[in-house]
Amino acid sequence: MTTSTQQRPGRPERDPLGPDPDNPPPAGVHSLWRLRSYLRPHRGALLVMLSTALAGIGVAIAIPLVIRALIDGPITNRELDPVLPLGLLVLALGVLEAVLTWWRRWVQSNAVLNVETAMRRDLYAHLQALPMSFHSRWQSGQLLSRATTDLSSIRRFFGFGMLFLFINILQVTAVTAVLLAMYWPLGLVVACTAAPIVWLSMRFEKEYVVVSRRVQDEQGDLATRAEEAAVAIRVIKSFGRSRYISDQYEAAARQLHTTSMDKVRLSARFWTFLEVIPNCAVVVVLLFGAIGVGRGALTPGELVAFITLMLSLVWPVSSLGIILAMAQEAMTSAARILEIFDTESDIVSGTRTIDRPRGHLRFEHVDFAYPGALDEPVLRDVNLDIRPGETVAVVGATGSGKTSLTALVPRLFDVTGGAVTIDGVDVRDLELAHLRQLVATAFDDPTLFSMSARENLTLGRADASDADIEEALDVAQAGFARELPWGLETRIGEQGMALSGGQRQRLALARAVLSRPPVLVLDDTLSALDVHTEALVEEALRRVLVDTTGLIVAHRASTVLLADRVALLQGGTITHVGEHRELLATVPAYRELLAADPSLEEAAS
Ligand SMILES: Nc1ncnc2c1ncn2[C@@H]1O[C@H](COP(=O)(O)OP(=O)(O)OP(=O)(O)O)[C@@H](O)[C@H]1O
Ligand SMILES: [Mg+2]
Repeated sequence: MTTSTQQRPGRPERDPLGPDPDNPPPAGVHSLWRLRSYLRPHRGALLVMLSTALAGIGVAIAIPLVIRALIDGPITNRELDPVLPLGLLVLALGVLEAVLTWWRRWVQSNAVLNVETAMRRDLYAHLQALPMSFHSRWQSGQLLSRATTDLSSIRRFFGFGMLFLFINILQVTAVTAVLLAMYWPLGLVVACTAAPIVWLSMRFEKEYVVVSRRVQDEQGDLATRAEEAAVAIRVIKSFGRSRYISDQYEAAARQLHTTSMDKVRLSARFWTFLEVIPNCAVVVVLLFGAIGVGRGALTPGELVAFITLMLSLVWPVSSLGIILAMAQEAMTSAARILEIFDTESDIVSGTRTIDRPRGHLRFEHVDFAYPGALDEPVLRDVNLDIRPGETVAVVGATGSGKTSLTALVPRLFDVTGGAVTIDGVDVRDLELAHLRQLVATAFDDPTLFSMSARENLTLGRADASDADIEEALDVAQAGFARELPWGLETRIGEQGMALSGGQRQRLALARAVLSRPPVLVLDDTLSALDVHTEALVEEALRRVLVDTTGLIVAHRASTVLLADRVALLQGGTITHVGEHRELLATVPAYRELLAADPSLEEAAS
């Protein structure tokens, strides 16, 4: 296979290293178990939750027993004196149950929100630390849905499902034991009705997981479409494709509606059965209970207590299905989140720093291929020595690897062979934070944040003085920033939308210049400027570049003139290095590249 970039075959449809939506990572209890460290700081809260819930079960069992005593004692004997204290006791127990529930919920929400916040913080920090290669593989929509939907499904399980899974099983066991002790034939009847409910719940859980997973995916799809439509609104409008896009959106929305209705129908059917089964059981229990009371095997109070206790079982038994579905969902979510956490950053910080950086930048036999496309090297055996204070322009056809070359200096990617060194130190041995202070970059597609112009400018150097900012604005010919409605405090729109392309480029350039780096990397930063402004920027840049080492990607002869030397990138390697005039005279490929440039004539003269 040739390495010529023009003939490079299309990349595979789905990156082999990226997430695979059809084959989610295996989810099991172990994935939730691995997140247990997040619960550790909240052990006290867990204890409170557990004990209040246990006390709640006790109270729930005690109330029917007191009622039984009330019916069998004072009411049957027509003695009214003990009615009041017993009635008050029931009331007190009821209030106690309410208080316990309130306390548990409060502790629970508090702890669980903290857990979610902690996970969110770690996820965000981890995403920031992950290398460029990770972010180019993963769609931002995927990351978004993991950071929101998946985190909240884990929160729901930790806060609710996990506790009730335990408590419900306990409650069912305890109440069934009490029922059997009270009158075992009826107790058996109750135990038997539990069987179909459990069976139904299990079946429900299986179907519910599938449907709710589908709803989740479709919600994600819809969100992605909405996001894309908002971000790409200019493209959509200018191509007159609003109709097409909204049709697509509508189809996705309708699909989501259908699936959601499936989910609703499933739940409705399940809950209906759930109502019917206990009611049938009540009829049976009443019938046999009446016979039992007639025979004297059971008192009326016991029958009432029995039925009350039995009804208290309906929720714990029937919620089992939902809780199991919740557990399943949380396991899947945990696996999806761990998939991100388990991605190690392969850009590991070194330990060295350079005390007095001179900015001697060298590429030594550098090979580079993008992760996931290792058999298609972009750069081969690149050698380039940029002396301190020198500026070298990189010229090459589109797609020849210029941007890739510049990305290696601040370690957005790592070389696959050879080394990039600054003052003789391999950039991989340098502390990352230090390296990125040594090297400032401005890209051809300048990203500005929705912050004030000042904050955007001082991104690389928070302590910059007003004088520094003024100077940087002058160099970049970005004086327009002072004329914005609120001057430098003006908030710049999302992705810098409110500014023109050239204005954004000049702000990004000012940002790079402001941090006064020993090494300045400019990737075609001036492409959106008119010839006149470009000349002004270059004039000022020349002054800045005097004591800065510069690596400048250039498409125009005028930019090339900024540089002391030019490196010609062809077929993934640097074939010629020399002065502009020299290359122009001796290298036909170089002449061809700059041929269409009108400023060539004056540059040559
Ligand atoms: N993230 C990436 N993953 C895989 N391949 C990539 C990636 N980015 C770029 N490439 C490939 O690497 C090659 C060089 O791209 P690069 O962006 O470095 O070219 P360039 O010289 O900067 O082009 P231009 O002048 O158009 O900006 C191209 O063939 C491109 O398809
Ligand atoms: Mg490029």
